[in-house]
Amino acid sequence: MTAQTARDFANGEIFVRFDESVRGCDAFVLQSHPAPLNTWLMEQLLMIDALKRGSAKRITAILPFYPYARQDKKHRGREPISARLVADLLKTAGANRILTVDLHTDQIQGFFDGPVDHMRAQKLLTGYIAENYSDHDMVVVSPDSGRVRVAEKWADSLGGVPLAFIHKTRDPLVPNQVVSNRVVGDVKGKTCVLTDDMIDTGGTIAGAVKLLKQDGAGDVIIAATHGVLSDPARERLAESGAREVIVTNTLPIGEDKRFPQLTVLSIARCWPTPSARCLTTAR
Ligand code: R5P
Repeated sequence: MTAQTARDFANGEIFVRFDESVRGCDAFVLQSHPAPLNTWLMEQLLMIDALKRGSAKRITAILPFYPYARQDKKHRGREPISARLVADLLKTAGANRILTVDLHTDQIQGFFDGPVDHMRAQKLLTGYIAENYSDHDMVVVSPDSGRVRVAEKWADSLGGVPLAFIHKTRDPLVPNQVVSNRVVGDVKGKTCVLTDDMIDTGGTIAGAVKLLKQDGAGDVIIAATHGVLSDPARERLAESGAREVIVTNTLPIGEDKRFPQLTVLSIARCWPTPSARCLTTAR
């Protein structure tokens, strides 16, 4: 652990400084990216830049939740590819390596010009489900057709249970707005394990639960790696009819975001044991 200073100027500019030598060190810059995510991203970039200019030997940026991962391609003309820009910013700042968890799409690994350690929370989440619901007649459900291959891996690791998916349409002009359509597959009377990479406002997942229930599903268990839980996720999920909502702690989940059906699992068990000094933000 290295002591450091972090503070903001009156106009919002962030200042960081390491209070001891980092020359020749193997540096790990671990940053959480909850809202306001741009601030935490900028702070991490500045810390990496400070390490580079302080002659650190190697800098690994740890982003348990990779910001802007959803913007990994252009849907229409004149849009940015923001996930690529984040990778470029990390590289320009001085990161040699990235360590992250469950990217929105695997291709984002290729956006960073250097090694990317892409950790998975699947074992942790399916392990918990197997432990608690093995006596249920399960079906794994993908909330959209794009995640069917991931859901397939989940189904395999839960012992070869069947698959279903939601045929979903999204309005490209309105962020976070989803129009859920119909369930493809047999969910009648089954315990549905609904899996996604992240829950933000909860619109996608709550819409999916509603459709599953309309199709005669029994219990619905929601499992996602990243609990972004922006308003009104808490209310939506609590009232969705899901039996349990399981997320990991790749993002901090304060009391204001919690509700009775929520289970937060520690990602620490999926993490390699660090052998070098770690840096944390001391605000
Ligand atoms: C979409 O492609 C993602 O995988 C999530 O389904 C989505 O971002 C979740 O957002 P929300 O909870 O706001 O519907």
